[in-house]
Amino acid sequence: MTNNSIRWAFNFAKWNPSYLEMAFAFSIIQSEEKERLMRFVFKKDVKASLLGRLMMRKFISESTGKQYEEILIARDDRGKPFFEEKDCPRVYFNVSHQGSFTVLAGEVGDLKLGVDVMKLEYTGGKPLNEFFTLMSKHFSLSEWDAIKDFKNEHQQIYMFCRLWCLKESYVKAVGVGITVNLGDISFKINSKYLNKYYINKDTELYVKGNKLDWVFEEMLIDDEHCVSVALSKNTDKDIIFKQLDFEYFKQNCVPMLGDNAWSAQESDFDQYFIIDLGRVMNVTRVWTRGRPHSNEYVMEYRISYGTNDLDYADYKESGGDIMVSKDKRYGCRGGFSKNNTPSRALTFILENLQ
Ligand SMILES: CC(C)(COP(=O)(O)OP(=O)(O)OC[C@H]1O[C@@H](n2cnc3c(N)ncnc32)[C@H](O)[C@@H]1OP(=O)(O)O)[C@@H](O)C(=O)NCCC(=O)NCCS
Repeated sequence: MTNNSIRWAFNFAKWNPSYLEMAFAFSIIQSEEKERLMRFVFKKDVKASLLGRLMMRKFISESTGKQYEEILIARDDRGKPFFEEKDCPRVYFNVSHQGSFTVLAGEVGDLKLGVDVMKLEYTGGKPLNEFFTLMSKHFSLSEWDAIKDFKNEHQQIYMFCRLWCLKESYVKAVGVGITVNLGDISFKINSKYLNKYYINKDTELYVKGNKLDWVFEEMLIDDEHCVSVALSKNTDKDIIFKQLDFEYFKQNCVPMLGDNAWSAQESDFDQYFIIDLGRVMNVTRVWTRGRPHSNEYVMEYRISYGTNDLDYADYKESGGDIMVSKDKRYGCRGGFSKNNTPSRALTFILENLQ
């Protein structure tokens, strides 16, 4: 069964993946996406962006019927991900992550679409008035009226974030990002408040003074986050954002071939697998065995270890060399007989296979 209109949200701040979950999540996305994710410094950014990847793949697979592992997502020259393939229905989707949430909006059909999620907070440091002065050119006079119409700062921040969210959803739909003059894009707010249970669709868009026939679906995902979906035409549906859990991504997902698995068939430097020991413990010995009746067996490997799910240190011999275990055909034994290496996860990295 295909899903034509999707609105998904995932609270990544509450997601504490085990090593196995993280390894699984990485195994079901494209390799270039993995490389991109590895460049993030903070774990929360990895989680936020990774979930975006998982949502895109899941949406494409559900809405086109395409096999999960065959889906290739490309990016246009401004970085917007898209999927286009002959004999597949045309799908439009966009992802956003901020605060605690990653969201995806997706549609099948011919339309432009962008989404943005924003935490309703001010973290600028300076007094709010100073900040508003700095931002003045990005908002029209009528938008500033809508912000200042509220008397207390908390509500002014809410309206500021809501308008910013609307602007971002629009620039993301047209694909230009924040390279345009945001002050030329002005929203007329007709309903002052948003809520978690209904979609608000009565906000109007004016670009350089001209009213455009776009639709903006707005709602709160929780008390602290607003979301806006910009659509170039009305879909005549009111779909509220559904909060997902990680189990949902596991359904019908197939790991991408050659990644995060250990196969002696391929001889390269990229293969590894992670063993989650469940708790920190001392590992005193590691054994691997080749398959009998097969010409594929491991000749060398490295071991690394760690106690969180991101940083691994190479296990080194007493002389300081990274340990490489070499053995014969049916046995590849990791020495590791010292008992002073507390670890929670071990990674086996294959250096050379025959
Ligand atoms: C797109 C943009 C508005 C995103 O802003 P943001 O609020 O920081 O990020 P969001 O969380 O809302 O969205 C990020 C997601 O939008 C998508 N995205 C990336 N570029 C996009 C674009 N040009 N248009 C629409 N969506 C885009 C991606 O899925 C991205 O997720 P990822 O970074 O995990 O891959 C901002 O990065 C921007 O202005 N980019 C344009 C830059 C540009 O045009 N550069 C010229 C390149 S030569």
